[in-house]
Amino acid sequence: MSSVRTAANGGDGGGREFPFTDRHFDYVRTLVTDHAAIRLPDNKRQMVYGRLVRRLRELRLSSFDEYLQVLEDDNGGPEFVHLINAITTNLTSFFREKHHFELMRERYIPELIQRTGKRELKLWSAGCSTGEEPYSIAMTLLQGGFSAKLLATDIDTKVLDTAATGIYNADRINGLPGDITRRWFLRGKGDNADKVRVRPEVGKLITFRQLNLMQPWPMRGRFDIIFCRNVVIYFDKPTQAKLFNRYADQLEDGGYLFLGHSETMHNLSDRFKLLGNTVYQKVA
Ligand SMILES: C[S@@+](CC[C@H](N)C(=O)[O-])C[C@H]1O[C@@H](n2cnc3c(N)ncnc32)[C@H](O)[C@@H]1O
Repeated sequence: MSSVRTAANGGDGGGREFPFTDRHFDYVRTLVTDHAAIRLPDNKRQMVYGRLVRRLRELRLSSFDEYLQVLEDDNGGPEFVHLINAITTNLTSFFREKHHFELMRERYIPELIQRTGKRELKLWSAGCSTGEEPYSIAMTLLQGGFSAKLLATDIDTKVLDTAATGIYNADRINGLPGDITRRWFLRGKGDNADKVRVRPEVGKLITFRQLNLMQPWPMRGRFDIIFCRNVVIYFDKPTQAKLFNRYADQLEDGGYLFLGHSETMHNLSDRFKLLGNTVYQKVA
């Protein structure tokens, strides 16, 4: 009987197909944290192993020593991009935390337009993952009759490829109200019957770009609203504080920042006031 262990007999789970030592884990997490600020505490070790083992198989490597050597030789090249893509957590959904979209449409944008007299709004979805968040924002803007442009960025090139297609498995829109699914999605036919596509007029509002939030931002001009939801949870508090400060610089006075439900600016920035429901307004 073969002694080769595969995912099917436990290599990806509790058992280890490839030995993954402290040295391997530390090397990888130092690279990832230095580049993307994503923290990888000890309890993420199994997750990191599970995600990287796929890279080893794809590259037909036989050990993590070999993989580390590839990363070393690659020196920030294509394998490094694969590494970052493999480590990011991209969980998202259409109209996730749906109260944010309602608040934006019914309260904050009308208030902003009244206060500034602006005709066209500028929004940014930072850490947009596979696109469900910016598409939900764009649908909300169209529904409210607002004129706007939306920048959507992520560090992960793979999720951006998905986002740019606007094509999703049909089960991604299960549970959304019928008026939303009928108005903003096209159902696939034939071989694509299990797919939906976001209507082109929604995508037209959005520009997708790769951007590492830890690096300089090339955008000129300020935003009226920034969504950065379920992203800063991966960063430590000093990194969060610096990022909030940069968001304040990149926002118009009185502009809004939406964070995820488990995120807070408490004790990290005095440049925003909390309006409620993890929505913040720039005050300085
Ligand atoms: C959990 S998803 C959140 C998606 C969406 N905002 C939402 O709330 O549904 C977090 C996203 O942040 C991105 N991310 C993590 N670190 C980043 C960084 N340093 N720069 C840019 N994006 C980053 C990940 O690639 C991932 O797609």
